[in-house]
Amino acid sequence: MEPINKIDHLYAPPQDFVDQAYIKSRAEYEKMWKQSIDDPEAFWGEMAKNLHWFKPWLKVYRGDFGIGDNEWYVGGKTNIAYNCLDAQIAQGKGDKTAILFQGEPDEDCRSISYREMLTAVCRFANVLKKYGVQKGDRVILYMPMIWQLPVAMLACARIGAVHTVVFGGFSAEALRDRIIGSGAKLVVTANGYWRSGKQVNSKNIADTACILCQEQGLTVDHMIVVNHLKDFDTPWTLGRDLSFEKEMAETDISDVCPAVPMDAEDPLFIMFTSGSTGKPKGTLHITGGYMVYAYTTFKYIFDYKDNDIFFCTADIGWITGHTYTVYGALLNGATSVIYESVPTYPEPDRFWQIVDKHKVTIFYTAPTAIRSLMKKGSEWVEKHDLSTLRLLGSVGEPINPEAWLWYHQYVGHGRCPIVDTWWQTEGGGILITALPGAWGLKPGSATLPFFGVKPVILKPRPSENADPIEAGIDEEGELCLASPWPGIMRGIYGEPERFFMNYYTQQPGFYFTGDGAKKDADGYFWILGRIDDVVNISGHRIGTAEVESALCSHPAVIEAAVVGYPHPIKGEDLYAYVILSKEIEGNETLRQELVAHTRKEIGPIASPGKIQFIHEMPKNRSGKIVRRVLRKIAAGDAAGIGDAMINTLAEPHLVEEINQGRIV
Ligand code: PRX
Repeated sequence: MEPINKIDHLYAPPQDFVDQAYIKSRAEYEKMWKQSIDDPEAFWGEMAKNLHWFKPWLKVYRGDFGIGDNEWYVGGKTNIAYNCLDAQIAQGKGDKTAILFQGEPDEDCRSISYREMLTAVCRFANVLKKYGVQKGDRVILYMPMIWQLPVAMLACARIGAVHTVVFGGFSAEALRDRIIGSGAKLVVTANGYWRSGKQVNSKNIADTACILCQEQGLTVDHMIVVNHLKDFDTPWTLGRDLSFEKEMAETDISDVCPAVPMDAEDPLFIMFTSGSTGKPKGTLHITGGYMVYAYTTFKYIFDYKDNDIFFCTADIGWITGHTYTVYGALLNGATSVIYESVPTYPEPDRFWQIVDKHKVTIFYTAPTAIRSLMKKGSEWVEKHDLSTLRLLGSVGEPINPEAWLWYHQYVGHGRCPIVDTWWQTEGGGILITALPGAWGLKPGSATLPFFGVKPVILKPRPSENADPIEAGIDEEGELCLASPWPGIMRGIYGEPERFFMNYYTQQPGFYFTGDGAKKDADGYFWILGRIDDVVNISGHRIGTAEVESALCSHPAVIEAAVVGYPHPIKGEDLYAYVILSKEIEGNETLRQELVAHTRKEIGPIASPGKIQFIHEMPKNRSGKIVRRVLRKIAAGDAAGIGDAMINTLAEPHLVEEINQGRIV
């Protein structure tokens, strides 16, 4: 039979998948969802009983969701590392593989059992204690995708220290901001890692970041360095730098470290993410609610069963890696694959080779990866036996139907449901998604809300006091959330006022997601992308304000405005409009210099794909840059700039002038 390969088809889950699924129908889901909304305390109280608590909670939920005041499992005491490891071992999973590490060199491969993981975590927790880390202290983990990263995260969690994982692709300047922003005194890093056959020296970047911190009055007391690359020349600062391997092997370091009973609302981690204004913000996630949400979403959305092998390709430096590669997987006693490098090395079949080699059953990746691999041709997928796969997932950006169909046909062989999971760093876990055995899929739609999540699509409000108005069927609007779920962030670290301002003022009484969306007649949600000044590049979130401030810190630049434009592989990319100092000429050399400058200030992910030098910004009469005009020009849609928009400009002739110089 020819595989069905149509965009407008409803892809029902195969019957054998339904038969074994936790939730087998939409009706079953509707009943549970309604209960989760009508009586969240009963619903989430029940879910939390699947985990271990040192002391039970007094009240499941207390707060006022519409103003960002949330407390879950009030008075309860637990420890997420204990739940990830000790509780699994107590259930007989000691010898099961917890982490399956796959290095870029194929032979660099290691399975770590739950018992081995517990020993490593306890030993590292004791190393942290030896160097003065206590409950509440922040620890920076600037580490590549190696098995020692989850060890370090769980070691922090075990003793109540707050981890801040910083993506390995960030520059020294970006790392400095995160060290200072979290006030950390200890950094864990690696000497380096493999990237497409080359060795990248992360220790050098961490060293530079420490010097930059020092300039701003913060001293990093210790840096613990994993010797990941063998025979690699690693600079060493005596007195500050410590070898991970040596410290772990010390005879005074015990295999035992009691897990600290943490209050449910005690901080677990800080994750920096971009917003529409200012510097990246440190989203603060806490212990109890996050744990219950990570556990529950992993179980139901990936329909997790005991013999599954889970492979999430996201870097642990982002929220997806935190919640699913590490916490969600281990809380469910799963085997989680960690892969060091890129999908295209040594050949563009690396993901499929790993699926084949490690018999992966659940594969979770981003649309940008699917698009780039699709471009390389289906023959790379066909070389491998992917028959172990039973479920696929997508995350990070809207998946275009063409990529969905390719993923479904060539990777899933038409047999695997695809869960398109919409969520964000702030949410802690997946918010809108399919439950894979419960209803049919439409390519490009994330479908329905998870338990406890009540999305509403609102029309923009004309004024703060106006009543909220829901958009109609198929009508675009602002995606907001109207009910509490346990995984939601509790605040922005060190900037309490920014939390309310960022999320609760756009649509008062609701949590504002920053995304546009619409709902169809079947109740399915379609996410349409960001409607604020955040751009989603290859599933990585970058605030345009950050890039503008990086560009403006270059001596040649007077003013910069950065917007997103559609990109065939990355989803979106950055388009920068730059005004130079009078005497400076905008040429190709300067363009390259500005790209290098943003790479240095933030990291390669933030370097603009296109830079156009202009003489004047299109501003309205009160002097504000009209970004909608710049977005239209960048997208090649100057014709779509209506008269109404042109009339708001102080100098309407600039539209034509800027459009003529557009970089194609
Ligand atoms: O615009 C949405 C997009 O990614 C944003 C969140 O980015 P971040 O906090 O970095 O988290 C990414 C991983 C959860 C959202 O506001 N986004 C994420 N998943 C999807 C998506 N857009 C459409 N469909 C998705 N499945």
